Amino acid sequence: TIVPVLLCGGSGTRLWPLSRKSYPKQFVPLMGDETLFQAAAQRLTGQAGRVVFDAPLVLTNSDFRFIVTEQLQAVGIDPGAILIEPEGRNTAPAILAAALHAAAHDPEAVLLVAPSDHVVPDTEAFHAAVARGLKAVEVGQLVTFGITPTHAETAYGYLELAECPDHTGAPVALKRFVEKPDEARAQEMLAAGNFKWNAGIFLFKAADMIAAFNQHAPTLLDPVRSALTAARPDLGFLRLDPDAWARAEDISIDYAVMEKATNLSVVPFDAAWSDLGGWDAVWRESGPDADGIVTSGAATALDCKNTLLRSESETLQVVGIGLENIMAIAMPDAVLIADMSCAQSVKKAVTALKEKG
Ligand code: GDD
Ligand code: MG
Repeated sequence: TIVPVLLCGGSGTRLWPLSRKSYPKQFVPLMGDETLFQAAAQRLTGQAGRVVFDAPLVLTNSDFRFIVTEQLQAVGIDPGAILIEPEGRNTAPAILAAALHAAAHDPEAVLLVAPSDHVVPDTEAFHAAVARGLKAVEVGQLVTFGITPTHAETAYGYLELAECPDHTGAPVALKRFVEKPDEARAQEMLAAGNFKWNAGIFLFKAADMIAAFNQHAPTLLDPVRSALTAARPDLGFLRLDPDAWARAEDISIDYAVMEKATNLSVVPFDAAWSDLGGWDAVWRESGPDADGIVTSGAATALDCKNTLLRSESETLQVVGIGLENIMAIAMPDAVLIADMSCAQSVKKAVTALKEKG
């Protein structure tokens, strides 16, 4: 069986003002009725051939714990455990905590780490890719899922394949992992042709991930292990020890382990996938009409092109006239208006607002 590990502690600042510190994007119905977190959890339930999912292990922070239980209950999923991080230390400590937690029961446990900010419409194709990945996991590989890049995205990790994947989509050895390149590097890798985007989904045996931390990020082991040993059960949640956790470096799994590990394999994933990493991605994934218009809520676009207009308040009418490449997102207490090409700068705006206080 496979233990799904749902990461949902991120703050999703690039989707401000819809995504808030107290209610980030993964818990908001961005497209359709379900939240991205609910969709991720549902994608990792049930069984399909060799792929049999256990109850999920959820890692989040204290502020979101009741949102997590409520949203899982609403889709009929019982979590196996919910680990509460005293503070967000990024994905490396979170994934190590998951691996150590699972290894305590069974070091051979197979974990599938899933971010909760993705859109993967074809569940069947996804399960088939996971099944292909299991072959590599059996021989001690850490498996990533590779998406064929469509543009020189700088918000993703890039996977350099050692060889061309065959038609079966079997795992291919990884030559190099490059996390979030600059624009020039991204252009080069796109042109080279033997690179995939890292989907941010990882499949591995608990013991193999722990060994990788031992080798490439050993300073994380003691704080994370201690945080688990001294964890305190609280109303069905397991609260990691704050003092130990505070000693863990704030670093993503991509920088801590993936860029350095040599036992990486990539499973090509050719079905649709998107990280809703910015409003431009939401616009793209929402199926723009022939003029490239996406409206949502009380929003109207007249003579516009390639424009996203969104009102999150029934009483707030948003009207755009003659706009091109513009996104406007109106909340009761904040409005974002930006050029579509500046989608990644929304993060900066949130930082600037924080500094203003
Ligand atoms: N529990 C927990 N704790 N979850 C976290 C934390 C944390 O401290 N920080 C982030 N997460 C969750 C986020 O909620 C998200 O679901 C997932 O971990 C990934 O974090 P992101 O912050 O969204 O990462 P990213 O998008 O910048 O980059 C990663 O994903 C890309 C694809 O979407 C990398 O793995 C890239 O290489 C990859 O291309
Ligand atoms: Mg992301």
